[in-house]
Amino acid sequence: GLMCKIGPSVLNANLAELHNESQRLLDSGADYLHLDVMDGHFVPNITFGHPVVKCLRTKITDAFFETHMMVTKPEQWIEPMADAGVDQYTFHVETCNDVPFVCRKVKEAGMKVGLALKPGTGVEAVQQYIDQADMILVMTVEPGFGGQKFMRDMMGKVHWLRQNYPDLDIEVDGGVGLSTIEACAEAGANMIVSGTAVIGAEDPGKVIATMRDIVEG
Ligand code: DX5
Ligand code: ZN
Repeated sequence: GLMCKIGPSVLNANLAELHNESQRLLDSGADYLHLDVMDGHFVPNITFGHPVVKCLRTKITDAFFETHMMVTKPEQWIEPMADAGVDQYTFHVETCNDVPFVCRKVKEAGMKVGLALKPGTGVEAVQQYIDQADMILVMTVEPGFGGQKFMRDMMGKVHWLRQNYPDLDIEVDGGVGLSTIEACAEAGANMIVSGTAVIGAEDPGKVIATMRDIVEG
């Protein structure tokens, strides 16, 4: 199979221990950190924003940080997130009336661009912007909460994207664990976010290693 990267989501970790939890995941073999930023408007939940990410960056200087921006105004947080040391800024097309503008601003700020799709949004919403993005995120749950059930029907979108864009980075996020990762890999995802399946495990390193075997095997 494809080479894949595994990026745990810290959303369901003990956030009072964000640094230690993040470091533990990186020590367990995580390739990057998927940081879920929620503003209470785009999704009915609040997590953390750029001040927290900036503090985390002072503790963890070398890991790749992706922020998954579940916010209504993605253009508003580009500069603060770049300043906080974010490597990739992934935002939702549903919130954005000028996607090319936001893509350009993110790049000018020195970050990679990710475009995210909620489950109800079809690939046609991003198709015209794919050449401006580094990655497409196909959500496999409704954004807002960790620990939800994987939506298998989203694999059609992943498959279509992989068929048409062989070199594109395609990420899946939501309900991905040992029993669902194979479907993601078969459909063509190469960036795998996993929250509760990794965080809740007794040995996160073992889960990450097993995931890698399944995807690459
Ligand atoms: C949902 C978040 C996901 C989520 C993943 O809104 O974007 O990143 O935390 O957690 P699990 O793997 O538990 O669904
Ligand atoms: Zn996420």
